[in-house]
Amino acid sequence: MDMTTPAAPLCRLADIPDGGVLGLDPPDPAGDALLLWRNGDAVCAWLNICPHAGRRMDYAPNLFLFKQGQLTCAVHGATFALAQAGLCVQGPCRGESLTAVPLRVADGMVWRD
Ligand code: FES
Repeated sequence: MDMTTPAAPLCRLADIPDGGVLGLDPPDPAGDALLLWRNGDAVCAWLNICPHAGRRMDYAPNLFLFKQGQLTCAVHGATFALAQAGLCVQGPCRGESLTAVPLRVADGMVWRD
């Protein structure tokens, strides 16, 4: 008998505003806080950890400085272009990238792979 618990989806696709971002904290405090970005039916995700100093990038829990596809870390202002795979395009870690998290979207739900 299989005793494993099926993984729960991270969220519904509709929970993420099209063209916008959503922050998710895991139910388990030891899990990863995530940043999700939606572009139509596609979703990309990264760890909510800034490559500059390893801090969360939100200014309040899961609230981000996000404008025109660019996310700015609330700690020291590094700016990441989400359409360029989370590349830092301005600020103290310019040239580094956010850590990508593989996802899949199926039946209107977003799952972590
Ligand atoms: S921790 Fe994000 S810019 Fe410094």
